[in-house]
Amino acid sequence: MSYMEQARETLSRLQQKDKVRILAMETSCDETAAAVVENGRVIVSSEVYSQIDMHALYGGVVPEIASRAHVEKVTPVLDEALRKAGMALSDVDALAVTYGPGLVGALLAGVSYMKGLAYVTGKPLVPVHHIEGHICANYLTSPELEPPFLCLVVSGGHSHILHVRDYGIYELLGCTQDDAAGEAFDKAARVLDLPYPGGPRLDKLAEQGNPEALPLPHPHTDGKYDFSFSGLKTAFLNAVHHQEQVGARMDSADLAASFRKAVVDMLCEKTMQAARDTGAARLALAGGVSANSLLRRQMQALCDGAGIPLYMPRLDLCGDNGAMIASAAYFRLKNGEIADLKLNARPAAKLFSNA
Ligand code: KG4
Ligand code: ZN
Repeated sequence: MSYMEQARETLSRLQQKDKVRILAMETSCDETAAAVVENGRVIVSSEVYSQIDMHALYGGVVPEIASRAHVEKVTPVLDEALRKAGMALSDVDALAVTYGPGLVGALLAGVSYMKGLAYVTGKPLVPVHHIEGHICANYLTSPELEPPFLCLVVSGGHSHILHVRDYGIYELLGCTQDDAAGEAFDKAARVLDLPYPGGPRLDKLAEQGNPEALPLPHPHTDGKYDFSFSGLKTAFLNAVHHQEQVGARMDSADLAASFRKAVVDMLCEKTMQAARDTGAARLALAGGVSANSLLRRQMQALCDGAGIPLYMPRLDLCGDNGAMIASAAYFRLKNGEIADLKLNARPAAKLFSNA
């Protein structure tokens, strides 16, 4: 029996099974992560190896270093996820891997490894889009959440407002016209001499600052639900450089707080506009920037005011992890979506049918 015949046979059995446990691998950027998740909503184990220390020296992710580190770490991280789950590879029902978007070499480390594992075990392999994974982190935190809902996805590479119509069906309402929110936070943090990764550090520093200290522009976008962060970033950079030139640099905490407020105001304003216009019954946040403390507080206050339930991933599930990939894979598997051994990394993979 060929691999595909075996995988399809297992798939039809799994589509009827009550309890499906998926082992997933995520290597799209600078985290090597693996996890076992049951029925898309219950984390059995999750292991994340962060390469932050390796990249911090260079002030950002170095793709070649990331690929090599993933190749070294995929086996120990996966073994650890199985060990913590108290499971052998044979106990797992199916496998999953992030195929894109991300750094091509980094993605390939995971894709090649999981294809090899699929081939030797005969288990079905589910390809997962990284952003879909981030959205599904909400199912792990709030097992009662079901589509449809509106979702703000904000990470290092993406800033999207999308409508989750059903499992696996996404409609893009708006997105950034230039930088992603996380990218903007990281660049502003660099100006403040904060070490990589700047976003979380800027957030922490901002907690002690005055958000009104530095007035920043409110960038205009053509699309009603689109974002633009590059103008904001440039205005911030220019203001700080000007202050340095005249020898009167403001307190870093005040600068951080002012920048954070400008970004969060824009994210909240556009998301709430989309929620009002579409009559959204539920709202969710996703992606690394959904860990931002002001974004969480401000969205909560706005949603409470509007009577819209807000869902946010648990803090440790906001950034990249394997559990979110295993969750997304469950719904794809139930829909019969499995890969053949020609599966390749797709660094610019799209999630939306309408984008
Ligand atoms: O989702 P993620 O882990 O990776 C990508 O898919 O890109 O997001 C990483 C991004 C980085 O830009 C990081 O600085 C940002 O999320 N980030 C934050 C916070 N935590 C992570 N930005 C602002 N505030 C935070 N607390
Ligand atoms: Zn991510």
